[in-house]
Amino acid sequence: MARTALQDQTVVIIGGSSGLGFASAQAAIAAGARVVIGGSEDDKLRGALAALGPAATGRTLDMLNPASIQDFFAAIPALDHLLITAAVIRPGRLLDAPLEDLQANLDSRFWGSVHSLRAAAPRLAADGSITLTSGMVTQRPQPGKTLAAVAAGAVETLAQSLVAEIAPRRINVINPGPMRTPLLAGMLDNDVQRLDALAQSLPLRRLGAPEDFADAALFLMSNPNVNGEVLHLNGGSAWA
Ligand SMILES: NC(=O)c1ccc[n+]([C@@H]2O[C@H](COP(=O)([O-])OP(=O)(O)OC[C@H]3O[C@@H](n4cnc5c(N)ncnc54)[C@H](OP(=O)(O)O)[C@@H]3O)[C@@H](O)[C@H]2O)c1
Repeated sequence: MARTALQDQTVVIIGGSSGLGFASAQAAIAAGARVVIGGSEDDKLRGALAALGPAATGRTLDMLNPASIQDFFAAIPALDHLLITAAVIRPGRLLDAPLEDLQANLDSRFWGSVHSLRAAAPRLAADGSITLTSGMVTQRPQPGKTLAAVAAGAVETLAQSLVAEIAPRRINVINPGPMRTPLLAGMLDNDVQRLDALAQSLPLRRLGAPEDFADAALFLMSNPNVNGEVLHLNGGSAWA
């Protein structure tokens, strides 16, 4: 079998127990990598590890708890690539939602990424990469999603601002549109008809597949010249 760019590499995926992160873990393993996944719920993590098989290990962490992020990375002596898909999304209108709900959006996606980067950097290979996740809400504002959008925009600025500081390691972001995952299904009350209606409203008449995201994540990990990129993965729906 031909050697792939990820062969025998260590790929850490915070959010690897579900959805886009889980599909990325599957793809990285198929490309010959060892994978370490993290998520906040122990049962979900165990289920994902059982499904991923012996090339995967993992432990729980909470992106809202910096000490747990430190502990997570302390157990990983070295890594080649870090992918973060995990984030807490707490909708709420800016003018009247509880402040702690609004702050959780930034505390998890933005500050969780900052804490992860600081903990991962000393262990990250010189030719390694970091991939963060934002979302199409940066381009399509919605009432009640202001802080979710700010947090997503913040990680895009974080990545591009950090390019010089972390070189020669690379950092990129994937900005997904609607993707068929447990998160999106939950937002639509697991209603298949609503999911199908959403798919039909999009230019390509389909929701993004987790495998589409995994394909993009592996491209960003493996291509040595892609750096500071925000890869929009929305089937064109941000512009249609
Ligand atoms: N799916 C979409 O349509 C879509 C669109 C735009 C952007 N995105 C973004 O893409 C990312 C992944 O979404 P997804 O659809 O794959 O969601 P998902 O299926 O719900 O998976 C989320 C993953 O993050 C973990 N996670 C959640 N909160 C965490 C916390 N506090 N600490 C540690 N891990 C945590 C989850 O594990 P536990 O539940 O065990 O914590 C799970 O492994 C998110 O950042 C989301 O905002 C998704």
